[in-house]
Amino acid sequence: MAEGVYWVGAIDWNLRYCGSYQTPLGTTYNAYLIVDKKTVLIDGVKHTHSLEMIKRVKEIVDPKDINYLIVNHAEPDHAGNIEDVLKLAPKAEIICSKRAEDSLTGYYKIDRPLKIAKTGDTLNIGDRNLVFIEAQMLHWPDNMMTYLKENHILFSNDPFGQHIASSERFVDDLGEQIVMDHAARYYAQIVLPYSQLVLKKLEEVKNLKVPIDMICPAHGLIWNKKPERIINAYAKWASGEAENRAVIIFDTMWGSTDMMAREISRGLMDNGVQTTMYPVRFSDWGLIIRDVMLSKIILIGSATLNMTMMPAIRGILEFIKGLRPPGKKIAAAFESYGWGGGAYKNIIPVLQEMKFEVVEPGPRSKWVPQEEKLKECYQFGKQLAQKIK
Ligand code: FEO
Repeated sequence: MAEGVYWVGAIDWNLRYCGSYQTPLGTTYNAYLIVDKKTVLIDGVKHTHSLEMIKRVKEIVDPKDINYLIVNHAEPDHAGNIEDVLKLAPKAEIICSKRAEDSLTGYYKIDRPLKIAKTGDTLNIGDRNLVFIEAQMLHWPDNMMTYLKENHILFSNDPFGQHIASSERFVDDLGEQIVMDHAARYYAQIVLPYSQLVLKKLEEVKNLKVPIDMICPAHGLIWNKKPERIINAYAKWASGEAENRAVIIFDTMWGSTDMMAREISRGLMDNGVQTTMYPVRFSDWGLIIRDVMLSKIILIGSATLNMTMMPAIRGILEFIKGLRPPGKKIAAAFESYGWGGGAYKNIIPVLQEMKFEVVEPGPRSKWVPQEEKLKECYQFGKQLAQKIK
């Protein structure tokens, strides 16, 4: 990647869940090796891919010559093979953040003392220097970034990553659009609740006035050119700046809620709002939350079951609530029911709790929506579209 700087990670083509996160394209676990007068290994891989990583390291150096192992984050997709690495690298000193003392020793058998790094601490490795930047809660308390000063490379760990398994290592070799799309869903699922901290961290890094020519995240493709593309995208997502888009998330029993959703979407689309619909039980929740983040309008529709919303609607609302999407968003609900109803009146307070601007009343249909009700749905979509004009 630069003189004496190597990618020594692993590609996980089979992964479909990383923790709680759906990964339809698999992922990579990016570890990096810097060979200077000292030899430095930055991060590791999931234990399932330990041999693959160690083989890559051995193509470059004998692991027993590793002087420093930098653990930017202790989650098992990055430090899961640390015990293997420590066995092969007996003299490697472990460098991590203060908060990683807890997570590293909580997960793994660590056979040596930890060297704690704080923001601004530097480590000379020969002709070059490493600078450490704590990144607490981006996205765990232990997260840290490492900057290779002379090469202007930031090893950011999880932030700026994407879950994509690929034979390519660099963003533009695969294509910016697909990488940015997966970076958005990645941000939405693991970084979104910490958006205020992202804004603070971006400001802090800007104030350091250090040039960044390359960002090497711990998953996916490397931003080897114009890394400001992903920095600016993070600034936009963190600030809650949304697009003129709507997302309709719904669950239906016998198709009535589905019919309503389609009419509302027609009302939105005919009035210039790009709209995406997700039948919640059959959809990738990563895509849903990405679109919640990117959209100004959020609609939740449900059939009534047992006097309340459908269970999957309850689930997605909990998911969205936990991720605390920032910014100003308009939200609304709609329901179908047979006798008593109940979905609508239970969805509205959840939307209010999330501090969305809730537009009421949303359409409610008894049994199958007839022509008048479908017209009302269309008009409701139009009304929402006009609110963001
Ligand atoms: Fe990719 Fe927080 O682990």
